Amino acid sequence: MTTEPKHIVSLPEIPGVIVPPHPQWPSLSKVETAHLKERIKRLLKEQNAVLVAHYYTDGALQDLAEETGGCVADSLEMARFGTEHPAQTLVVAGVRFMGETSKILNIEKRVLMPDLCATCSLDEGCPYEMFSAFCDRHPQHTVVVYANTSAQVKARSDWVVTSGIALPIIKHLAEKGEKILWAPDKHLGAYVQKLTGAEMIFWPGSCVVHEEFRSVALERLRKLHPEAAILVHPESPEAVVLQADVVGSTTALIKAVTTLPNKEFIVATDAGIFNKMRQLAPDKVFLEAPTVGEGATCQSCANCPWMGMNSLHNLEELLETGKNEIHISPEIAAKARIPIQRMLDFAKNMKK
Ligand code: 13P
Ligand code: SF4
Repeated sequence: MTTEPKHIVSLPEIPGVIVPPHPQWPSLSKVETAHLKERIKRLLKEQNAVLVAHYYTDGALQDLAEETGGCVADSLEMARFGTEHPAQTLVVAGVRFMGETSKILNIEKRVLMPDLCATCSLDEGCPYEMFSAFCDRHPQHTVVVYANTSAQVKARSDWVVTSGIALPIIKHLAEKGEKILWAPDKHLGAYVQKLTGAEMIFWPGSCVVHEEFRSVALERLRKLHPEAAILVHPESPEAVVLQADVVGSTTALIKAVTTLPNKEFIVATDAGIFNKMRQLAPDKVFLEAPTVGEGATCQSCANCPWMGMNSLHNLEELLETGKNEIHISPEIAAKARIPIQRMLDFAKNMKK
């Protein structure tokens, strides 16, 4: 049974998120893929561009990013990488908020994305006007938003966090006695509240992909694979998180497959992550956590449809046409940079 976090705010007028069908791309032979990759490599070089990809994107894109000196990473590292790389064009293969974060941090650079319609259910489910009104109703609270939000929502916040750093930041704020307004992912919010004891109120958003993992079916699968370690992204419902051996960002889950002695892993996050897991631990066995079972709709079946909008095909087209550039108004970018930079500075200080 999933329990709602305490102090969740009821906002019945929140727009329903329309989940698009998973895009179908033409299949390519090995030779065709190699040719396409060569053309993209040439275009990247000619345009002084670097490819920054998320772990949920198509495996061929992830590999290409690494082969060309770019990076494949979680959303925190994607943001950081763009600020440290000298390329004048950042090509962000991921979802819209990732491209926008790159632009906000690198306002002088050109930031391109294969498809500007690649959004995120958390971002879609947290429209600025409603969010701002919610903040206005709680002026005593420190506003902490997940990176999976629009530039405008970030501009209205005090802190931006990703799943990789939410826990230490909320702990830090709780120790200072701050009351927190958290948006938009209620499951990640509930998870950090439970571990930190922070006083929090929540926006009722969720990720359509992680929301689909089914706890009862997971219990059954665990019984069939008693030696498997369970890896769960904290955007998943509480009843799934409770069964985890490791809860963490995409980077943390990938790290776990190399550091844990287990030979088998059941993984509750987008299936794109298996590309890196299989590369790093080729002898291990990876099973998808179930998205079928009671109440299942399986709209995404652990494949984010928006991440699926990135492919070698539209990447090549993008580099040839230069379309799909991210633009953000200088005022919003300047305001949104403050809470994002706060997060990056916090992360830097943690490493010291
Ligand atoms: P990470 O920051 O863990 O990569 O997560 C981003 C995301 O969108 C998960 O659904
Ligand atoms: Fe958003 Fe979920 Fe897709 Fe991540 S997996 S980008 S949170 S819809």
